[in-house]
Amino acid sequence: MRHLIEIQDLSPAEIAILLQLADEIIARPADFRDSAARKKLATLFYEPSTRTRLSFEAAMLDLGGHVLGFADQGSSSASKGESVADTIRMVQCYADIIAMRHPKEGAPVVAARHASVPVINAGDGGHNHPTQTLTDLTTIHREFGHLDNLTIGLCGDLKFGRTVHSLAAAMCRYPGTHFVLISPKELCPPDYVTDMICQSGRSYEQVRAMEEVIPELDVLYMTRVQRERFFNEADYVRLKDSFILDVPKLAAAKKEMIVMHPLPRVNEISVTVDADPHARYFQQALYGKFIRMALILWLLEGA
Ligand code: NCD
Repeated sequence: MRHLIEIQDLSPAEIAILLQLADEIIARPADFRDSAARKKLATLFYEPSTRTRLSFEAAMLDLGGHVLGFADQGSSSASKGESVADTIRMVQCYADIIAMRHPKEGAPVVAARHASVPVINAGDGGHNHPTQTLTDLTTIHREFGHLDNLTIGLCGDLKFGRTVHSLAAAMCRYPGTHFVLISPKELCPPDYVTDMICQSGRSYEQVRAMEEVIPELDVLYMTRVQRERFFNEADYVRLKDSFILDVPKLAAAKKEMIVMHPLPRVNEISVTVDADPHARYFQQALYGKFIRMALILWLLEGA
């Protein structure tokens, strides 16, 4: 039995299998509508979510399975003081697979240790978000047909943004990746992320403005400044509008360059970009359901 706690839990070969399966599901969804019949997915969300939770649930329903869970820790026994370990011991009696989001880094590791069913990390604090990365890889792969030799601009809150940490870890394993890290000084990625890039033999540059680097990018991955992870509101207010992508800034981009965002967006992408041919973030959210279908199937079948 396998869990998915961080993206490195999957080898590049296993990621390729999942991407292939997602492609098959996209091409022939009807063939998969009973694939997880009578199986149950529990979604334990101790933190807010729209896309991740609903795409997990839609994925399970489209596989013919059932869903149960909670969307708010206030409505679970966590509010009475129950530990993650005890909650998981219970939930594994009721479900065949668990997707869990938690504000504490490492909570899904604790969950996996106590679980006799697969546990999927649906985001743990400012740490990791492997299924968003699978969504991102699906989008990039379907767009470019490969994951090699791409220049990826990661822009915004690279310090607290868990999607960025997981995406960087994933892309480090593909030859020729070049990272352009675009953030204010205060929101630079943690050292472990830049160390990981160096150790992988990939290259990176750090810049403070997006305008100067837009022409070199294949992917511009925008992120929200993660208000809930700041220690004080004044710092958030000062940094929240560090980057605002608008249509004029995209004029310098390569024709094939795509703009991605895990969403939710606040101000960092002007709504006028939504209709721009570079925009892929809504498409990306749709792919999130298909790759989660692939992941659920694969984990239920014992990987
Ligand atoms: C992200 C998250 O929760 O980390 N959202 C998502 O899952 N699509 C990004 C964010 O909240 O900014």
